[in-house]
Parts: sequence; structure tokens; C-alpha cells
Amino acid sequence: MCGIVGYVGSKQAVPLLVAGLSRLEYRGYDSAGIAAIGPKGLQVVRRPGKLSVLAAALASEPIEGKIGIGHTRWATHGRPSQENAHPHTSGAVTVVHNGIIENHLELRSQMEALGRTFSSDTDTEVFAHLIDQAVVEGAKSLAEAVRAAIARVEGTYAIVTLCDRFPDTIVAARNASPLVVGVGKGESFVASDVPAILEHTREIVFLDEGDMVEIRASGYAVTDRSGATVTRPVETITWNASQAEKDGFPHFMLKEIFEQPRAVADTLRGRLLPDRGDAVLEGIEVPLGKANRIVLLACGTSYYASLVGKFLIESLGRLPCEVDLASEFRHRDPVIGPGDVVVAISQSGETADTLGAVREAKARGAWVMGIVNVVGSAIARASDATFYTHAGPEIGVASTKCFTAQLTALALLALYVGRRRGTLSEAAGRELATAMAALPERMTRCLEHLAPSPKTQSPLVDLALRFRGARDFLFLGRGVNYPIALEGALKLKEISYIHAEGYAAGEMKHGPIALIDDGLPVVVIAPRGPGYEKVMSNLAEVRARKGTVLAVATEGDEAITKQVEAVLRVPEIDPRLQPFLTVLPLQLLAYAIAVARGNDVDQPRNLAKSVTVE
Ligand code: F6R
Repeated sequence: MCGIVGYVGSKQAVPLLVAGLSRLEYRGYDSAGIAAIGPKGLQVVRRPGKLSVLAAALASEPIEGKIGIGHTRWATHGRPSQENAHPHTSGAVTVVHNGIIENHLELRSQMEALGRTFSSDTDTEVFAHLIDQAVVEGAKSLAEAVRAAIARVEGTYAIVTLCDRFPDTIVAARNASPLVVGVGKGESFVASDVPAILEHTREIVFLDEGDMVEIRASGYAVTDRSGATVTRPVETITWNASQAEKDGFPHFMLKEIFEQPRAVADTLRGRLLPDRGDAVLEGIEVPLGKANRIVLLACGTSYYASLVGKFLIESLGRLPCEVDLASEFRHRDPVIGPGDVVVAISQSGETADTLGAVREAKARGAWVMGIVNVVGSAIARASDATFYTHAGPEIGVASTKCFTAQLTALALLALYVGRRRGTLSEAAGRELATAMAALPERMTRCLEHLAPSPKTQSPLVDLALRFRGARDFLFLGRGVNYPIALEGALKLKEISYIHAEGYAAGEMKHGPIALIDDGLPVVVIAPRGPGYEKVMSNLAEVRARKGTVLAVATEGDEAITKQVEAVLRVPEIDPRLQPFLTVLPLQLLAYAIAVARGNDVDQPRNLAKSVTVE
């Protein structure tokens, strides 16, 4: 989830590129760099840390040129550092990249066998070597060299390159990572996101999957993978800068809710092996041989993801799995030690309680793995191994895409444990892995059905207007959907400031049923599958007390419609994976009610992202 900007024209490129990168600061990043071709040839400056550090470096070692590219990095491979910052250079070629190259280790060995040496830990550097190799072997244009490189690469990319053998051209290509071309008068732009160039042009070409583009001051030419010319429309952007940062969505939270299919796909990429019914954890070997149990430690939304993780690990791996609130664990005298596999789950990797719990567990002899979204964060550094979620930076304070990315990482771990322990057969693994591979498509379908025009029409607006005045809400779920009831209640509390409780549906009769009356909206998570009949009888108990029921139900379950006030539909999926879908309407409902109450959804009161205070 890096930021990219490129320029070619009659102006000095560097100030323009730095300004463009600053428009992408809202995405978060850990390092930045610029390359330009001028009188001194190709020059590159890159620095870890904030853009101001790069700007200061450029002030003391200025680089000239009317063609250049810039990058802000959000690390996925290799810690944040100067060596790992983009652009990456090999010979005459320099490259910036957004995405994940799956076969980078294999390509790296092939390049090393040709005598090439690498100076970073990134997957991107192979791109620079592949393109330079093609130039050395006689490519007649930069586009030809990039095309030869792309043919060998598996994974996702938005790549932008410069080569001082072809000093008037930028070549860019995309595969599953966004890239746009900005059309100017006597100048052209390329960027990962519209805000980076909106100040200079509103005429934008949105590139499609597999597109490659040659960009010169005089114009641009788009081709497909085979080199055939393709035509893409030029669109005039009418959004203002703040809307453009949100890709046209009214809030980052809604944008991130809609990014979930991509976040799940990126977290699965290269790790899920559907043909073998297995998963790999990017070289991490969990010491299961000696393990008595797995202990999951986390706070807040990450804790609720862990409760789903327990369900999956125990059911697939038949190994006891405990889940503990990191904020409690570290302040008692926990029984933990050698033989325990501890997994700490954290979006930010900086939550003080979770970090404290990791240190406590390690000090007592446990082996600790982090499931973390931010490369090089404190929890990643403190753990014995780290498995990254590839959700990209989460800007909205209420966690959404990181929750489903955490579920993905935990499902991969459960599959891994089940296959290593022999408790999950290859055939059963294949069945689950195939269902996991279909998750991004199911999630897209679910979101599109619930909110068909999210950029222009607030989702679930009727429900939101109806329930925005409620004083309390109750969320009920069973089995793997019980943690989703807890998460639904947390999201609503956090951004709408309505009191909400999540409850195990079967526990209702043990007391809380006394609360139910016609003033209490009750969200019942009732997808078809194991436990459906039981949830339906809980739903009947609520109705008998005149509670207002909103059901989350499977597409095609018409029987439920007559029994409830409103139904939020989710597609059919393997029942063990239902949380990936059932959480989506609850995120949208919380968002919609908060918007209907006029709250600032991206920055709720009393909260800030990455809370590290005690
Ligand atoms: C809720 C939310 C918080 C975090 C919690 C842990 O939407 O974002 O509950 O989940 O503060 O944060 P991380 O995952 O960064 O450790």
C-alpha cells in the first residue's frame, strides 16, 4: 500500500514529486524516495521516516531533472530502512513498486546466478534487476524491457520505472494495484492515487489490469501485455482533494470496509495452497511438536478476531487454544512457559498492553509469533516470528479491514496447524482452502448487495434513520458468530456512542432476556448452518418479548423474513468462514447509524489510532 507519483514535462520534477507525495501522507508510510534524470544522469535520494526527512536530504543534495518518480513506502517485505526504501536501482534502471511479488525469492536466485548483487531485502529489487537485465540484453525500448520483466513476475504490482538509456520516457504497468495517468499540457503524470496529481490536472486515465503505459511530455500510449495498443477513456475528476484521498468515498471507514476483499486476497496471496489443501506461513515453522496449547493474546477488535481464531484452531488442529485479553494477561501472574505457543494479534503492532503481554510470555519461556499489520512495529520486533496481514494502512480509527485480514491470517494458521498435526486430511484441507480462496469474491458480492452505490448513497440509510435514536442495542450470535456479535456491538459503541452489548445467543435465557422490550433493537446473527435452529428459537424468545429484530441471514432464506423487522443478507459460504461475511453488515450498520447521528466516523471522540498509552 505504497504511494507512487511520476512526472515528465518542462518543469523541475523534484519539487512537484515531493508535493505529490505529501498529498499521499494520509495513507501512512515508513520511508520515501525520489529519482530523477537530469544533467548529471540518473540520481536517487531516499530516506527512512517522514517526508520532511527526505525533503531535508534533497535540500542538501539537490537533484535536477524534468523527468522523475517518487515513492512513499509501507513495508511488506523487509523492515523500514534506507536500503529497503524505494526507488530501487540496478544499472541504468530505477523502479518504484506497490504490491507483492510472490516469486521474488526464485527470481532473486536466478539474478544472483547471473552475478547480480542485491542491496535490499525487498521483493521490488528483483524488478529493477530483471528490467536492467533486459536492457543489457538489448531491449530496444524501456517498454520492451519492462514487458520482458513482467512476463517473469507472479504477484501484484503497480510499477513505475525510469532508465537513463531512454531519458525521455517513464514506463508504468499495473496488475491488481491501482495506477492512474494524468494528462497535462506539455506534461504528463502517473500516480497510484488521484490526490497526488490533482493539483496539476483533472484529466485522468484509470489504467486497467494488465495495462502498460509509456509516458512522455508529449503524451502517453497504453498497451496490453502483448504490446497491442488499447484505448482507455480520459475522465474529468470533479472530486475535491479530500474526496479524492478517500477515493470518492465520504469517509475512510467506508472506503476501508470496501477494501476488505482486497485485504483478504492480499493476506491469502502466496500463503494459501488450495491444490494441496494446506497453508504456508512464509517460512515460519511454528514449534508444534512440543506445543501443549496455543494462547492468543490481543485487545479490542483484534481480541474478537482471536475468538474466531480459537474456534478454527481447535476445530481444525484439535489443539487446546486459549484466548486472553492482553490487557489482563500482563497484569496477573499467568501460567505460561516453554511448550506454549503464543500468538499476539495486533493491527498497529504498537498496542502497549499487547506488547507487554508478548514480553511477559517471552520472559517466561514461551515461543511467540506476532500477527501484525505494520512491518517493523514493536510487537513484530519483540516476537520470535511475525506473520503479516497485508491490509495496508488503516486510517479510519474503527478497525474494519484489519479485522477480516486478521481472520484470514488466523484461518491460515488453523489450516497450517491442522495439516501439520494430521488432524485435517488433505481432502478436508482442500475443501476449506477452496472456500477460503472464494472469500474475496463472496465479500465483494455481499458488500455490493448491501450498499450498491456507497460513494453517492449512504448505505442502509432506512435502517439508520429508523434506529439512530435507540438508546441501547443487543447483538446475538452463536458458535463462530458469537465473536461477531461482540464485534458488532463494539463497532456501534465506538462510532455511534450508542450503548450496545454482544451476547452468546444461548446465554439470553440466563438473565439478560429480562431487558428485552419493544424499545430494544436486537441484531440476531442467523446464517444457515450449524446452530441455525437454535438461533431461530432465540429469535422467537426475543419476539415473544416484543423486541425489534434485525437479522443477518443467508441469501435465499425467505422463512426468516416474516419473523423480523429487517434482514441483512450474506451469501452462502462454508459455515466455518461465516464471520468473514456476517461482520460486513454489522460494520455497515454501525457506520450508517453513526453517519445518521452526525458523528465523525473516522475520528470518534476519545479515540486515536494505535493507542499505546497504558
Ligand atoms: C476497534 C479498534 C480497537 C483495536 C485495539 C487493538 O475498532 O480498533 O479495539 O482493535 O485497540 O489495537 P491493535 O490491533 O492495533 O493492537
